[in-house]
Amino acid sequence: MAVQNATVPDDENPPAPDAGAVEDALLGELAERIGGALTEELTEGGSPARLVKLALPGGGFQVVKLLVDIPGAVDGHDLDSFRVKIRQIEKIRAEIPELREVYTELSDEFHGDNWSAYTMPFYANQDIAAPLRAGEDVEKRYAPQLRRILSDLVGQGYLRSSEETAPGHIAEVHADRLIRRFWLLQKYLPGALVDAETITVNGVVCRNPLRLAQTLVDQPGLTAGVDPARLYYPVHGDLNTRNILVLDDAAVSAGRGGYRIIDPRGTLGHWDPAYDLSKILFSFTVWDAGLRKGFRLTQDAGEWQVAIEGGTYPAYRAAAHGLLGLLRGLPEFQRLTADDPGWESRYLLGHAFHLLAEAACRLSDIKKRTGEDTADQLDPVDLAKGHYLYGVLFLEDAVRQLEAEGRVDHDAALSLLG
Ligand SMILES: Nc1ncnc2c1ncn2[C@@H]1O[C@H](COP(=O)(O)OP(=O)(O)O)[C@@H](O)[C@H]1O
Ligand SMILES: [Mg+2]
Repeated sequence: MAVQNATVPDDENPPAPDAGAVEDALLGELAERIGGALTEELTEGGSPARLVKLALPGGGFQVVKLLVDIPGAVDGHDLDSFRVKIRQIEKIRAEIPELREVYTELSDEFHGDNWSAYTMPFYANQDIAAPLRAGEDVEKRYAPQLRRILSDLVGQGYLRSSEETAPGHIAEVHADRLIRRFWLLQKYLPGALVDAETITVNGVVCRNPLRLAQTLVDQPGLTAGVDPARLYYPVHGDLNTRNILVLDDAAVSAGRGGYRIIDPRGTLGHWDPAYDLSKILFSFTVWDAGLRKGFRLTQDAGEWQVAIEGGTYPAYRAAAHGLLGLLRGLPEFQRLTADDPGWESRYLLGHAFHLLAEAACRLSDIKKRTGEDTADQLDPVDLAKGHYLYGVLFLEDAVRQLEAEGRVDHDAALSLLG
């Protein structure tokens, strides 16, 4: 298989071993151990992992997912959470028989000192959002399918168990994480974007997101009214639309499975479902279209404009605006949120933080993924900038609403999409 990625050393970091070559060698060894042949690379993922389809000798296909921790790569926690992903898949399949049919199988796992891999069956699929990219009306397939899938995940998954949690969850999960990873944004993005006190995005004067994150940590009263009081069974943790695979439309509509949930975050403790459901929102507002089309970024007299290149898919906009209503129509969701008045605010704050976290993710494997053979790919720094500018805009709005009203309103927040 061709080497896909090369590592480009920069001034501050010594040359790391060639990540692409190390991965290719391991993928070759794994294929040999499994006795299959590597066919095509699956490139829809958002992580530094490599995914390759493997043809088995007896017919049929598996997928190998490999993560190698290269010395000098930026985020040292990737491999730990990758290994916990495997345990999370195993836990859910063992503990929730009702979800076993729809949750990714785990065929095998392999580990080395600085790498891990797992295999699963290959599922011929479309992601849940695919019909929307083709211009199909949200009510034709996407919305009924999502209702069915979320009824299962909430009813059988999140609601399976819960525990109380102390105030401060938003600060701990979102704000602290942004503060810890902000150096990465400061390393690759221009000072005018990351160090300035205010950043003007699409005509809105926004406060620096690092300062806003610090404000949320320093002033617990701001989020006390919207923090979760309970956390729920960790059924996923990274529920973006590319991790929801539809295999069989007819089976989904008949309530007979027909879909697979893949790629959980790698978390075994109780979890806030608002975090996961705002990943779906984030997929539709910015992330999925941004990664497919890129961003149009312009700067004029110190003011920034950001948009999805060529405009987003119209049905994605409808899906984003309609998601909260869709959720509220589900009996399982009503049960989940009956005593949780801060849910809507947390969903929107989570959405803003997901955008900023994604900006850091785009940069975190930049050394691993930047090579001369990637000229036709979207520039990771531009992808980071696009997510960052949207994140700055949405976080300013969410915090401003919290300060003024004690809550974040959905329609007010999504009006920022224009
Ligand atoms: N078992 C599978 N069958 C078919 N496609 C898969 C399978 N696993 C992953 N994919 C495809 O590869 C993409 C990336 O896989 P994923 O495990 O989500 O990696 P990442 O951690 O990079 O997001 C998925 O969004 C999906 O399109
Ligand atoms: Mg994924």
